[in-house]
This record gives sequence, C-alpha cells and structure tokens, in this order.
Amino acid sequence: MEEMILKTEIQVAQLDELTDTDRQLIDMAIEATSRSYAPYSHFCVGAAIILKNGKTFMGCNQENAAFPAGICAERSAIFAAGAQYPDQPVMTLAITARNTKGELIDEPASPCGTCRQVIIETETRFKQPVRILLYGKKHTYVINGIKQLMPLSFTEF
Ligand code: THU
Repeated sequence: MEEMILKTEIQVAQLDELTDTDRQLIDMAIEATSRSYAPYSHFCVGAAIILKNGKTFMGCNQENAAFPAGICAERSAIFAAGAQYPDQPVMTLAITARNTKGELIDEPASPCGTCRQVIIETETRFKQPVRILLYGKKHTYVINGIKQLMPLSFTEF
C-alpha cells in the first residue's frame, strides 16, 4: 500500500505583518464578538468577511435552547452576504472569539466542520479560494483557502 501524506500550509503572522484591510477585517470580527448571542456556551464568536466589491459583513454565533437551531459566526456572515450580494465572491474571512470569561482568545479558534463545508461551497460557487484569518492575541493564522483545513473535501456530485 502507498502512503499519502497531506500537508497544510499556514502563515503565522503578527498584526503589524498584515495589510490594513486584513487588520480592519479582524477589528470587525472582534467587534462582532460583542454582538454574539451565546447564553448557553458563553463562547462568543465573531466573523467578518469582505466581498470582491469591497462590501463587508459581520457575523456572530446565534444560539438557541434547541441547540442545533443555532448558527455559527462564520455561516451567519457568509449567508448574510449571500442574501445581499449573491454574485459577489467572498475574498477574505476573519474569525475570532471571546472565551467564557469574556476575554479575547490567545490562540486562534478554527472553524467547525459544518462551517468548513459551507466555506468549501463558497469557494466552489465563486471558483476562488477564501482567505481565512484566524485571530488570537498571540498570533493570527493566515490560510489561503479552506482546502488547507479540509483536504479531500466533498464538493460537487
Ligand atoms: N461556534 C462558532 O460560531 N463557530 C465555529 O466555527 C465553532 C463554534 C459557536 C457555536 C456555539 O454557539 C459556540 O461557538 C460554542 O460551540
């Protein structure tokens, strides 16, 4: 049998190594954490995206007593943008969170499997990768396309 080793490439950046646009998007994601509705987990996730036309959207997790009815920050931003500008590719997505103490996380938080699947669909739909910025106080992970986080993904059938 042959072995297949899959490699993931992630840049680890400090804020001063990012562009102004990237930093602004991270600031929006931080702002979005304060709009989160998370009375059950108390984990407040914020996301922000920029579209090809320069429009930006925030998203945050919206929880529900019936847990699966809630939605993550990433999907709330992507679906809001899709509803307003269905023909505009998503260029970059920034994500961060506040922990249960209300503090911004030190280490970046990674999108859940369902959000990864939605980001895959977004890339398929617009035929281009979505840059992902995962912000934590220690550093930001810069990821050029969700396939870095989700290889061998299920796309079209
Ligand atoms: N959450 C997100 O908003 N994004 C993710 O990618 C992971 C998890 C939310 C869902 C739930 O409201 C809380 O974080 C705890 O899981």
